[in-house]
Amino acid sequence: MSTRRQFLGALGLPAAGLATATLLDSRSLQSLIAELAATPGSPAEIAKDEDFWLQIAAAYTVDRSIINFNNGGVSPAPAWAQAAMKRNLDFANECPAKNLWQILEPKKEGVRQRLAKEWACDPEELAITRNASEGLQILQFGFDLQPGDEVIATTQDYPRMVNTFKQRVKREGIVFKQFDIPVPAEDPAEILEIYRQNISDKTKMILVCHVINLTGQVLPIKEITALGRERGIPVIVDGAHAFANIDFTFAELDVDYYATSLHKWLCAPHGTGLLYVRKDKIPGVWPLMAANDNQTADIRKFEEIGTHPAANHLAIAESLSLHQGIGGARKQARFNYLRDRWAKRLMQHDRIRLHTSLKPGMANSLGNVQIEGFESGKLGAHLWKEHKIVVTTIKHAQFEGLRVSPGIYSTLSEVDRFCEAMEAAAG
Ligand SMILES: Cc1ncc(COP(=O)(O)O)c(C=O)c1O
Repeated sequence: MSTRRQFLGALGLPAAGLATATLLDSRSLQSLIAELAATPGSPAEIAKDEDFWLQIAAAYTVDRSIINFNNGGVSPAPAWAQAAMKRNLDFANECPAKNLWQILEPKKEGVRQRLAKEWACDPEELAITRNASEGLQILQFGFDLQPGDEVIATTQDYPRMVNTFKQRVKREGIVFKQFDIPVPAEDPAEILEIYRQNISDKTKMILVCHVINLTGQVLPIKEITALGRERGIPVIVDGAHAFANIDFTFAELDVDYYATSLHKWLCAPHGTGLLYVRKDKIPGVWPLMAANDNQTADIRKFEEIGTHPAANHLAIAESLSLHQGIGGARKQARFNYLRDRWAKRLMQHDRIRLHTSLKPGMANSLGNVQIEGFESGKLGAHLWKEHKIVVTTIKHAQFEGLRVSPGIYSTLSEVDRFCEAMEAAAG
């Protein structure tokens, strides 16, 4: 008797859509989750178990005629989350004033509670936002600063977040200082020391990525937050690429301010994000859109954005269920396995350079790779034109390359086809 993998493998990749339809028709999300959760094996063992991952791959409606290795930009939602979102949108439109405001919107509290339980914090510390940018800008604009006050970040922080501080420079006369860190950085103590050296008496805020989007570099967030606390400086953590990719909880990370998208690694519907603010810090942060006086200490003050769809936010629940069925540790192990599979193979080639550390704990699932002598923009265009592979070109003063970010639904054969295309391009 053939295994499920042999069966799906025999169908070939285009048949993954067929498998998706079959799964959605005949199995509930709950039964898949129960089966995944009951599968024995350590995260490292499960990472290599294609039967396990093919079941998850089949839960996505992605286009298998191409290879999408830009899941870091934005990810697809599993079919169940898409269906839930559409259901809620239809229901809202039957009578928005009642269905949207009175029935759907209050259900967001259930999503808040489930997210808080999974990431080990108080639900009263989580605001549900539309993306990482919204949560981060709430924080970046949320503290009063005086002309001459200084904010620090690296030269690898996300451009929109950099622009946010640059606007405060133009508008309020603050000082925004950026500094380099090594690429890749392999010593957390060295990174911490660079932050320490860049703090001055004028520093009033620190912006730091949990994971840098350009390379997958992980930064020592707990230690940088502690450093800020020692000096009374708020540390704003940009968690866009860490949340639901790296396995952590807010309790372990011990941060005060953290924002992320949920449409990246949680695979929640597009237009979903999360803002964590430690409970006693909430009164000290202004909301970006004004809230009632009695909301000063209420995390919901950050959600006072006017009328908006509830469908996206509620369907976070389905993506969360799938995430929980897989398990955060297994997901992280699979991501590392996929990254190591392509990165270690390509590193055998003498023209190929990796700008991502493969040292345990120093990177998430993103990898940045370069073929020396092949301009990265042209290489990215070549991969799309000749092989229908989607990656992102990254150019930074310190390095350039392609950012490669497989999804949780990506298959080993897709990873191997990417390697073959890169090897052929490298000659
Ligand atoms: C490091 C980082 N921060 C913030 C963002 C903004 O995320 P969003 O587009 O979900 O607001 C991104 C998006 O790619 C990112 O990579």
